Amino acid sequence: MDKVNNADHATLTLPGSNRSAQLKLLSGTLGPQVADIRKLQSDLGIFTFDPGYGETASCESKITYIDGDAGVLLYRGYPIEQLAEKSTFLEVAYLLMYGELPTSAEFETFSTGITRHTMLHEQIRRFWEGFRRDAHPMAVLCGVVGAMSAFYPESVNINDPREREISAYRLIAKIPTITAWAYKYSVGQPFMYPRNDLSYAENFLYMMNAVPPESYRKNPILERAMDLIMILHADHEQNASTSTVRLAGSTGANPFACIASGIAALWGPAHGGANEAVLKMLEEIGDKSKIPAFIAEVKDKNSHTKLMGFGHRVYKNFDPRAKIMQRTCYEVLGELGVKDPLLDLAIELEKIALNDDYFVSRKLYPNVDFYSGIILKAMGFPTTMFTPLFAMARTTGWISQWMEMIEDPLQRIGRPRQLYTGAPQRDYVEMAAR
Ligand code: CMC
Repeated sequence: MDKVNNADHATLTLPGSNRSAQLKLLSGTLGPQVADIRKLQSDLGIFTFDPGYGETASCESKITYIDGDAGVLLYRGYPIEQLAEKSTFLEVAYLLMYGELPTSAEFETFSTGITRHTMLHEQIRRFWEGFRRDAHPMAVLCGVVGAMSAFYPESVNINDPREREISAYRLIAKIPTITAWAYKYSVGQPFMYPRNDLSYAENFLYMMNAVPPESYRKNPILERAMDLIMILHADHEQNASTSTVRLAGSTGANPFACIASGIAALWGPAHGGANEAVLKMLEEIGDKSKIPAFIAEVKDKNSHTKLMGFGHRVYKNFDPRAKIMQRTCYEVLGELGVKDPLLDLAIELEKIALNDDYFVSRKLYPNVDFYSGIILKAMGFPTTMFTPLFAMARTTGWISQWMEMIEDPLQRIGRPRQLYTGAPQRDYVEMAAR
């Protein structure tokens, strides 16, 4: 074993033996130190047990930082509040992918590159005919994104940096087209082809809302709100879907397959599906008078009911995105002249929960999804489109994380171990003897 400086190490000793391991303490630029357990099995013959990986850093990353206790979220070091106020989604996409804010020339090249990839291959269009009319748009997203690898066979060359970059451009550029078409199909309207004279957010709104017989009227309030919502959802460190993308990517799978696996993981109500679930919950509660009964149900261990839009694996304080989302919610509803009783209900629910010992003692605060559904509803999106919008924005984060992973010299196939609690070895019993 290396000679060690004990100040930089934690010592783990096996009880009843004189064997111990020196776990090197690694320091990042921000955040707590991390004990390096890579040699634990060879030094002590044991693994660690960490269901849900809440105590495990699965990789080194320079992209996003969260301080869950302080309610801080940084993209490449920049606070989310500043980016939400001053930046645009495409600029944030550049920042996440390349690590720095672009100069105007770099931004011009990037946005032109993205814009040139917004169309889908005409044959991809035919996939839609295979989906049932009532298919959930997340099912469509999963299927179509995964199938894109069939159209770009060169994307399997993941060791070629230029191929990786082109795949990233294709994904960021085409995901709004796929998302909007998933909606158009569900309402039986013609697909609208992308318009490269519009901004990223406006082009998406155009493909969602325009119809061929009418001229399209831009709406700057909706455009800014859409852009902001996408900035807030662009990346979020090693969450379930991002970790899924990295795990799939660690096998050498092509980027389209990896992003499709991220979309699948995002779909669940504990993750990206929560925005849809919040609105359903508010509609089910229906009236302020029913809040106490609902809260009692949430607190009842046997009910399995959760206060959707509350709680987070990492934030044990206000999710900073929720604060921005709440403010934006007021602004957007005010500017659009929408009066939604669900907003009043949400405010009342939040007030009650923030003063209730059950939520206070567990440090359960509103997360990004508590208010996003109300804004998206006011913007005219049907509930089933909420999670696809999240996926559309997160594609940028996923592909940036995937690129970082491929370039990481420490990268190896993701392969967690287990604590086996099944039957010990036993002999096969013939059927007649069972
Ligand atoms: N309502 C009621 N109780 C809750 C909630 C909630 N929303 N969230 C956590 N708890 C309780 C949980 O039952 C547990 O109680 P106890 O200690 O008595 O067993 C305690 O709080 C700790 O919760 P946990 O399940 O260990 O926390 P976790 O880190 O595993 O789960 C979570 C995090 C986000 C899955 C969970 O808080 C949750 O299901 N929230 C509702 C769904 C939601 O809003 N998800 C969106 C997350 S933000 C967007 C995104 O990143 O996708």
